[in-house]
Amino acid sequence: MAAQLIDGKAIAEQIRQEMKAEVAELKEKFGGKAPGLAVVLVGQRKDSQTYVRNKKKACEEVGIVSFGTDLDESATEAEVLQAVAGYNADPSVHGILVQLPLPPHIDEQRVLDAISIEKDVDGFHPLNIGRLAMRGRDPLFVPCTPKGCLELLKRSGVALSGKKAAVVGRSNIVGMPAALLLQREDCTVTVIHSRTANAQRICAEADIVIAACGKAEMVGGDWIKEGAVVIDVGINAVDDATAKRGYRLVGDVNFAEASEKASQITPVPGGVGPMTIAMLLRNCVDGAARTFA
Ligand code: GUN
Repeated sequence: MAAQLIDGKAIAEQIRQEMKAEVAELKEKFGGKAPGLAVVLVGQRKDSQTYVRNKKKACEEVGIVSFGTDLDESATEAEVLQAVAGYNADPSVHGILVQLPLPPHIDEQRVLDAISIEKDVDGFHPLNIGRLAMRGRDPLFVPCTPKGCLELLKRSGVALSGKKAAVVGRSNIVGMPAALLLQREDCTVTVIHSRTANAQRICAEADIVIAACGKAEMVGGDWIKEGAVVIDVGINAVDDATAKRGYRLVGDVNFAEASEKASQITPVPGGVGPMTIAMLLRNCVDGAARTFA
């Protein structure tokens, strides 16, 4: 069976259009007030600079005002904390994002813990994650990448309740919150990680697979049950002398093999990637709407 593609690029574009309309409505309702996102970037990592640029650009396109603090690689933890404190106190800022990773001399946990949970648009604050894990409690924000995975499943008409789901990877940013989100949707969730025995056999029992292990094409066709839905979070550059730039991007799933088995699958690129930014916009607008109301 050849799988149907889940077009993350098109779905993200649709969400950006929805956000644009919502921001316009908010402005009209609340005397011209716009949602504001503040991004703190420390250091000169090219990948982080690109992510931050793309995030700010996407914000501006939907009418969210973006603020930024760029600090040198040598910035002290106190300076980063000071930037966060300033945005915590600033009423025109509704979302604060500290781009990760931070330089090794800065305590990432201390910085993330300092972000007001009302402005924690990355959803990385332990209080937001804790609420995500608890039945009957709701986080103020859900981390953007796993939220994007769930949105792709929902907008692709995938029924979740009662289904077996496998999450490959247990990072704080993707795997762990993705597993919590699937559990909140009444899936029976197995988290597969580097120490899991019989990972392939366990994964091959799942109706829904979210791959977020950061290893190029690790999830092969034999990991996928016939008819399963596959969401590939990975984005890995692999050397390819025939490609234009000398490399090509692949996911954590072997797409050629898995698409022979799956009923629906996300491509890489053009699957989960564009959804992460769309969900950041969603979180910013939600945060602003709560503040304005
Ligand atoms: N670095 C890689 N992914 C992310 C993310 O989702 N948020 C932040 N703040 N930094 C990241």
